[in-house]
Amino acid sequence: MSMMPGVIDRYREHLPVTDATPAVSLGEGSTPLVRSQSISDSLGCKDLYFKLEGCNPTGSFKDRGMVMAIAKALEAGKKRIICASTGNTSAAAAAYGARYQLETLVLVPAGEIALGKLAQAMAYGARILAVNGSFDDALTAVREIVEIMDIELVNSVNPYRIEGQKTGAFEIVDELGEAPDLLCIPVGNAGNITAYWKGFTEYQSMGKSETTPKMMGFQAAGAAPIVRGEPVLKPETIATAIRIGNPASWEKAEAARDESEGMIDMVEDSEIVDAYLRLAREEGIFCEPASAASVAGLIKLPELGVDLTGKTVVCILTGNGLKDPGTAEKRALVELEYVEPDIDSVMKLLNSGK
Ligand code: F0G
Repeated sequence: MSMMPGVIDRYREHLPVTDATPAVSLGEGSTPLVRSQSISDSLGCKDLYFKLEGCNPTGSFKDRGMVMAIAKALEAGKKRIICASTGNTSAAAAAYGARYQLETLVLVPAGEIALGKLAQAMAYGARILAVNGSFDDALTAVREIVEIMDIELVNSVNPYRIEGQKTGAFEIVDELGEAPDLLCIPVGNAGNITAYWKGFTEYQSMGKSETTPKMMGFQAAGAAPIVRGEPVLKPETIATAIRIGNPASWEKAEAARDESEGMIDMVEDSEIVDAYLRLAREEGIFCEPASAASVAGLIKLPELGVDLTGKTVVCILTGNGLKDPGTAEKRALVELEYVEPDIDSVMKLLNSGK
């Protein structure tokens, strides 16, 4: 066990846990809620916070739901788990699978997984099937496989994933003392927006908050089926984590949007990259491109007619920037300055007016 309580221990009474549920944890949850230093002022919000889900044990929010799915799989005596993934779910499944001796099978779109995520699945020892197709194709295959094999499905269509993931909403309310006005969140397969909405509404019905936030979901423009109102056959975006054309929780995401009087909109890759670099350079926060879609969306809200004045806003930064070193290398446009390791050479370079 980790010294920090994981999400099952911290929120046991709000989760489907029985005496028979094993104590599963890698120390997930309890992630930092960091106040904005710079972006907030430029938007005129009252308060803007970033929830750093990249601080979870495998570097993304997926650990919250995975820990619950794994606990229930163990409780049911399962020996094997399977998922389709754009990378983060597979990293989380592989980590918890390794820790609890579950054979782990992951299906990923070939050639479209960020390097850090693939490295994780490899290191944790999962069996990795790289499929010739999209995430959506991989998920369709997985749903067929679980019909005929004795293997636990740990994608977010597994309701225990949503249960665990809703703890992110609990943490925000516990820390702020009230729900924020707006929650900005990237949308891919749409499990996370579904889970946050469930968490906020549960907390409100228990009297832990008076209000619920407007749910502001953002898809990448090249992979925006919910915004466009139809599946996208060939989704394309730099934010590979949310390169998804037919989200499994489509209707639940729409319900979260409508019930909260929020919106689901889309952001261009250029806007994602701008937000990604602003977060790194103005806030000191390195998240992955998909995560920056939440902030890119927030930055666009005034143009879309949403007044941010006086509002408390939380952006969910779903994954760590280290997941995708290739994008940083390509998009930061920083060149290394090569130099001999002596004071004269360094001073000469520094004084050369660059
Ligand atoms: N941000 C990151 C970093 C993700 O990895 C994902 C989804 C999302 C946002 C979107 O969350 O799917 O619940 O709407 N990643 C999944 C995966 C699809 O396989 O790792 P969602």
